[in-house]
Amino acid sequence: MDYHVKDLSLADEGLLRMEWAEREMPVLRRIRRRFAQEKPLEGVVVGACLHVTTETANLMVTLKDGGALVSLCASNPLSTQDDVAAALVKKHGIPVFAIKGEDKETYYSHIASVLATRPRVTLDDGADLISTLHFLAQGREGELSPSLEEAFSPWGQEERESLVRGVIGSTEETTTGVIRLRSLAAQGKLLFPVVAVNDADTKHLFDNRYGTGQSTIDGILRATNRLIAGSVFVVCGYGWCGRGVAMRARGMGARVVVTEVDPLKALEAVMDGFMVMPLMEAARVGDFFVTVTGDIAVIRREHFAVMKDGAMVANAGHFNVEVDLEALEGMSVSKKRLRTFVDEYTLETGRRIVVLGEGRLVNLVAAEGHPSAVMDMSFADQALAVEYLVKEGPGLKPQVHRLPRELDMEVARIKLESMGIKIDSLTSQQEEYLSSWEMGT
Ligand code: ADE
Repeated sequence: MDYHVKDLSLADEGLLRMEWAEREMPVLRRIRRRFAQEKPLEGVVVGACLHVTTETANLMVTLKDGGALVSLCASNPLSTQDDVAAALVKKHGIPVFAIKGEDKETYYSHIASVLATRPRVTLDDGADLISTLHFLAQGREGELSPSLEEAFSPWGQEERESLVRGVIGSTEETTTGVIRLRSLAAQGKLLFPVVAVNDADTKHLFDNRYGTGQSTIDGILRATNRLIAGSVFVVCGYGWCGRGVAMRARGMGARVVVTEVDPLKALEAVMDGFMVMPLMEAARVGDFFVTVTGDIAVIRREHFAVMKDGAMVANAGHFNVEVDLEALEGMSVSKKRLRTFVDEYTLETGRRIVVLGEGRLVNLVAAEGHPSAVMDMSFADQALAVEYLVKEGPGLKPQVHRLPRELDMEVARIKLESMGIKIDSLTSQQEEYLSSWEMGT
């Protein structure tokens, strides 16, 4: 079996942590039991590019128990948990290509290794597998990386096309990935159907909000061990992730400032009780800054220039483009690593700016990502989306699709049940009332 992980001797520790996570993943456990009996994915080659965490490992094992032939690479060079990667290889016989701290070329060579298995279904967190497939179809993989070009240089055009044509469909985990894919689809260039798992309610309402909220604070605390209470905590972006981060920072006693470009979201933040102001103003008063916008160069030169001495800057958005580190490097006279994933930049003025997690997802780099209990729903959605694509994919148009509503609701139902929480159901009179238009006052 081909694989590339840091150290197989970490497998015992990884397995223990996988099992610890699984205890908090009752919905995925139930799907795993059904998959093991029904084998809905028998013989289907599945390639995944996800953060290599304990929760992802449980998803991989679920797909394998469903009969799939799975392989996994990382969706971020710094988010891999090396013990988990080792456990998947050694304890579950699943090929993994991921090492925490891998450079860009290794990152893409790992993507190439997964694609070389000729997956029929792919899973993405950030759309790197799908976009690589589209670059390959056009013979443009060298634009992404020399290592991809090298890996596919023996492949002829026909072979590349058959690789891409062989994909029944893909899933996408995150907001940023869905945005990329919608733009590909809008240009009429998407080559196969994609299920936007992110758009399921059981995904973004919980994972993006409560998951990012808790794990971002967790990452900042593990990296810095600083007090949040009484600090001015600036959250850039008030989407589902930003709402979660702002809510949890407030819960820790911070004075929270939200910055936005969208008037509706800004208004929502105001009425949720947060201070809202332009980043240029917030930059002068913030102690902590977290970007969760999905956009590029959100915190940049003019903001760094006015920040307080010791201000801490972190990113919890998918790509490491939200904090303009190049600009910061250019303004700095020195850079020093103070603690793991804590880098201090000293500006010409003598003021210091502290960057956490190298501007990559602080919750996955400095902590362990979202807690298992929310990933339970996201990855139950992923497992059901893969099953759905295997069954229905050939009939779907090459567009971005929602996870069918009944699957979303099923995940919510099982989650509630696993928490021992019962809810009411409509009486027949109520059902009739809701489905009629004649009844008024
Ligand atoms: N994204 C955020 N948290 C995650 C986790 N724990 N596992 C996989 N992907 C994640």
